[in-house]
Amino acid sequence: MRSSTGRWVVDEDFFDREKELEILEARVRGRNHVLLSGQRRMGKTSVLRELERRLESDGWIVLFVDVEGAANAEDAIADMAQAAYPYRSLVSRFAEGFRRWFSDRVEEIGASRFRLKVRAGLDAGSWRRYGERLLHDCAAQEKPVLLVIDELPILLNRMLRRDGEAARVDEFLSWLRGTIQALGEKSPVLILSGSIGLEPLVRRLGISDRINHLDPFRLGPWGLENSVACIGRLAESHGLTVEGDVGGAIYESLGVGIPHHVQSFFARLREHAIMHGRDELRVEDVGEVYRNHLLGPSGQSDLVHYETRLKDALGDEGYSLAMEILAEAAIERGFTGQAETCLAGLYGELVEEVPARIEDVLAVLVHDGYLEACEDGYRFSSHLLKDWWAARFRGHHVALERRHSDRGNGTGSK
Ligand SMILES: Nc1ncnc2c1ncn2[C@@H]1O[C@H](COP(=O)(O)OP(=O)(O)OP(=O)(O)O)[C@@H](O)[C@H]1O
Ligand SMILES: [Mg+2]
Repeated sequence: MRSSTGRWVVDEDFFDREKELEILEARVRGRNHVLLSGQRRMGKTSVLRELERRLESDGWIVLFVDVEGAANAEDAIADMAQAAYPYRSLVSRFAEGFRRWFSDRVEEIGASRFRLKVRAGLDAGSWRRYGERLLHDCAAQEKPVLLVIDELPILLNRMLRRDGEAARVDEFLSWLRGTIQALGEKSPVLILSGSIGLEPLVRRLGISDRINHLDPFRLGPWGLENSVACIGRLAESHGLTVEGDVGGAIYESLGVGIPHHVQSFFARLREHAIMHGRDELRVEDVGEVYRNHLLGPSGQSDLVHYETRLKDALGDEGYSLAMEILAEAAIERGFTGQAETCLAGLYGELVEEVPARIEDVLAVLVHDGYLEACEDGYRFSSHLLKDWWAARFRGHHVALERRHSDRGNGTGSK
């Protein structure tokens, strides 16, 4: 098992998740559509890629569509076409409809040029028809087909922000649901996935029924036992011995076993051992590596990734509110009901319907695992995320209550 701190992992590099895979595989084989959610970096894409690998080796066709870069339905259909490209029987049927855009033989142009050509042939009036054709072609395959759409909430949020209304999101989700249902037994099995909550989004738009044909499945963190076992396996694979309960100390520092954080901890601890000329991981190094490396520059670059995702999902206004809430929760040890009232007061003139907007943002932050509800409001569940945000805002975050009362007294901070 190789150490990995970047993209999704499969096969030899994939650890645990056997129970989750068993459940997902049973659902897919039973032709149930699934909504897979889970906090950022929990390993959603890895679980789906591993499921893809296993099903493909058992004769399934799996179309894995990542719509993180898509801005509208036309882009998403073009992404689906690109995913279908390796399957000749599927793609040649579909390409028939695009004959006039293809001067070359479809088989020779490669997946990304195929996508470009398909995209050029799609517009707001035609994506439904071509999307339908693709799904019908999936249904006509002899082999069973699984269609995975990863990062869908990012696309939907982008559509929403562009138009400022729910119509596009509704159109796309209704189309997908309608087409899949019309195909009945023959339809491809659908898995929708992403970290930024799809459920809070459709609830907010009042269109929850558009995803009620999907069985929700939430991917949770590793517990102590699996986090420790993962560290053990990684150490063994990299020829390192483990002194004492290094895995337990790592888990305790993190607070939650988010697989990516466990992997990052191992990678930094291993580098620390190498720098000191040792081939042993030591408990006494865990604290230092946490403070100086996980919270240091490499951790900060992970944080930028988190921030970008939030911005993509929430838009500028929602993002500003999210930053205020996270800064408050990290530095003031929680985001209380009182702080919420102050935040609404401070942003009242800048953001429309601010109390409802704050509730939306909180729903996303909870759904996405940044915060959990506690007695008097919300707090971080992961120590690492809390410490990242604290490091990011320390020095320039002024408590919301103080800013609110300063402003009330006419001393006016923003
Ligand atoms: N089953 C696993 N075994 C080992 N490492 C894992 C596993 N799942 C996730 N990881 C670690 O987490 C990282 C992120 O995984 P992945 O991209 O699958 O997560 P994700 O939930 O899809 O993330 P994002 O929220 O960014 O889309 C991987 O690079 C790897 O370090
Ligand atoms: Mg992912």
